[in-house]
Amino acid sequence: MKDYDIKDPSLAQSGRLRIDWAGKEMPVVKLIKERFGKEKPLAGVRISACLHVTTETANLALALKEGGAEVVLCASNPLSTQDDVAAALVDYDIPVNAIRGEGNETYYRHIITALEHKPQITMDDGADLVSTLHKDYTELAAGVIGGTEETTTGVIRLRNMARAGKLIYPIIAVNDAQTKHFFDNRYGTGQSTIDGITRATNILWAGRKVVVCGYGWCGKGIARRAQGLGAQVIITEVQPIPALEAVMDGYRVMPLIKACQIAEVFITTTGDMNVIDKTHFLQMGDGAIVANSGHFNVEINIPALEGLAKSKKRIRPSVDEYTLGDGRRIYMIGEGRLVNLAAAEGHPASVMDMSFANQALCLEYLTRMQGKLEPAVYPVPEEIDQEVGRLKLAAMDITIDSLTEEQRNYLASWELGT
Ligand SMILES: NC(=O)c1ccc[n+]([C@@H]2O[C@H](COP(=O)([O-])OP(=O)(O)OC[C@H]3O[C@@H](n4cnc5c(N)ncnc54)[C@H](O)[C@@H]3O)[C@@H](O)[C@H]2O)c1
Repeated sequence: MKDYDIKDPSLAQSGRLRIDWAGKEMPVVKLIKERFGKEKPLAGVRISACLHVTTETANLALALKEGGAEVVLCASNPLSTQDDVAAALVDYDIPVNAIRGEGNETYYRHIITALEHKPQITMDDGADLVSTLHKDYTELAAGVIGGTEETTTGVIRLRNMARAGKLIYPIIAVNDAQTKHFFDNRYGTGQSTIDGITRATNILWAGRKVVVCGYGWCGKGIARRAQGLGAQVIITEVQPIPALEAVMDGYRVMPLIKACQIAEVFITTTGDMNVIDKTHFLQMGDGAIVANSGHFNVEINIPALEGLAKSKKRIRPSVDEYTLGDGRRIYMIGEGRLVNLAAAEGHPASVMDMSFANQALCLEYLTRMQGKLEPAVYPVPEEIDQEVGRLKLAAMDITIDSLTEEQRNYLASWELGT
């Protein structure tokens, strides 16, 4: 019986070429893959991965397979799957259940198929796989060694589960590794969000008035890239410290409702819901562009916009035009789903190299620690984080200084003063 569900197997060749292209930018994952090939640290381990089905994920999946794992893959977002990559992975004997644009029902059916693989390790990007297992398939938990979580929103959900006493196996918060969120969230989301909006609209950024909602790791990256292209950037926040950081980084900071009267492009990246709400749509000018780069499509209140609109039409492949009762038009990119994956190709491979090196090494660690970790959310072990940083620098042919004996002693002492 066919163990995959993809759009079109004949796309495999184009997928292979793009996977190889991304692979060239992923030297750390390549090194890990070569070692895994010799040592087989994941021999026979069943892995169910719920990740964006992209060229970078494909390189990770191939490294895990090389390590001996039996990997199956489903999508972590209905609109992020690259169908040619899915086809190529099936060709590589990695079952994929994911189709770009799949509805909610198919999306969850594909997650259930991944769970039917009876995973010993779960990999998640947003915690949909883990939460489905915890809600409806708890009997599988006894066979699970542990899991990993890729993104901020997933880690927040898992910590909430752990706090409520509901988490039944250990999970490593890959997102929280320094070699993940310092780079992936900031430089990856920064560049690819601008890329997604540009591909969708072809707008000129220079001189454009842009609001970034949320000045966390992703927000910082998006704001800096937009500013670098000449945009006038406004930040909105709900926490005083990131708001202050934004002010001192040189941005205007104000409540969103006020920014709506000034700005032309609005980008959410908060991990929160209804950040752009009905009241905001009522204040935006004609032609406002709204896009989301946070994990779920709840950051922009889409039902509220639908309620205000008298008509909606798709005017470009990733752009919907909503015409409000008074004639103003609002343009939504990528159906409010993460715009860098819905309207572009997601993060560049070079940055995913570090995120996915963390993933691969954490899977090896979980296998080694089988039975020794309590159900809880764990940080990425410090030695893995440091190793990924070291390998990435080496791959970039950059060397750094090292501490002298004298400096090591000084930094470990307290006696010396003025
Ligand atoms: N598009 C991608 O490929 C991608 C990549 C990484 C992370 N993410 C997702 O992006 C989101 C943000 O991640 P992050 O790592 O930047 O998180 P973060 O916690 O570093 O930052 C989020 C910021 O949003 C602020 N915020 C919360 N509610 C707000 C509101 N109503 N208005 C304004 N600001 C608000 C918070 O105070 C915080 O400073 C998460 O959903 C994460 O999963 C997406």
